[in-house]
Amino acid sequence: MMNRTLLITGASTGIGAATARAATKAGWNVALLARSADKLEALADELGTMALAVPCDATDRDAVKEAVSTVTDHFGGLHAVFANAGKGVDNPGVEKGDPAEWHDMIHVNIMHVLYTAHETLPHLRKTKGMFIVTGSKAGRDHMKGSIYGATKWFVQGFAGNLAEEMREWGGRCTVITPGMVDTPFFDEGKPTKLQAEDIADAVVFALEQRDTSCVREIHLMPND
Ligand SMILES: NC(=O)c1ccc[n+]([C@@H]2O[C@H](COP(=O)([O-])OP(=O)(O)OC[C@H]3O[C@@H](n4cnc5c(N)ncnc54)[C@H](OP(=O)(O)O)[C@@H]3O)[C@@H](O)[C@H]2O)c1
Repeated sequence: MMNRTLLITGASTGIGAATARAATKAGWNVALLARSADKLEALADELGTMALAVPCDATDRDAVKEAVSTVTDHFGGLHAVFANAGKGVDNPGVEKGDPAEWHDMIHVNIMHVLYTAHETLPHLRKTKGMFIVTGSKAGRDHMKGSIYGATKWFVQGFAGNLAEEMREWGGRCTVITPGMVDTPFFDEGKPTKLQAEDIADAVVFALEQRDTSCVREIHLMPND
């Protein structure tokens, strides 16, 4: 069988890069999207012909559209998407928060997910494909003044609604909701927390389900 193709946003570091490595091991082609072209090229070199680096700002709707068409032209189709790009803020809380930071974060954490879904669904429909999105524990629990958490509550709600839309044509949607993961999301290492590879394995588990099963959510917590 021809390799299936997975498009990953936020593929330059952390969870996205680990998922690219795990997915190629499981036989998937991977399209790597993020802004850092140098990191994407290095990862694509490491992974070989199964990988394609497609530098793109995921908050730019035209750039996402162009990236999706580059990917489908290159690999001949699209079977799954992992909408994983995301960011936090430096200034936590509402009263002490910075609305300019909220604006940028909402564009990445919410609008990029919507743009990516809008541009990829026509391709996923053709393959009865899968849309996987990175939510968070912060999108299932209430955290003091967290606007970041509120963006992930959006993702949690959206993923369920998209699952209902996609099932009309045999498509599937999964939200991955980790607690703390040791990635460049944090300035300092978190060796006892979840590792990016833990999340990558969960994504591959969702990808490898039989057609009869839709994993709607995978919630992982650090075991410390
Ligand atoms: N680490 C945690 O504890 C944790 C827990 C739960 C959920 N999450 C979620 O997991 C996802 C991945 O985060 P991570 O922990 O792996 O952190 P990370 O290493 O900082 O990765 C974030 C990724 O998003 C990309 N990105 C950010 N802004 C972008 C933009 N405008 N356009 C395109 N790509 C953009 C970054 O690439 P460039 O900078 O190269 O563009 C990078 O590849 C995020 O959605 C995060 O909210 C993280």
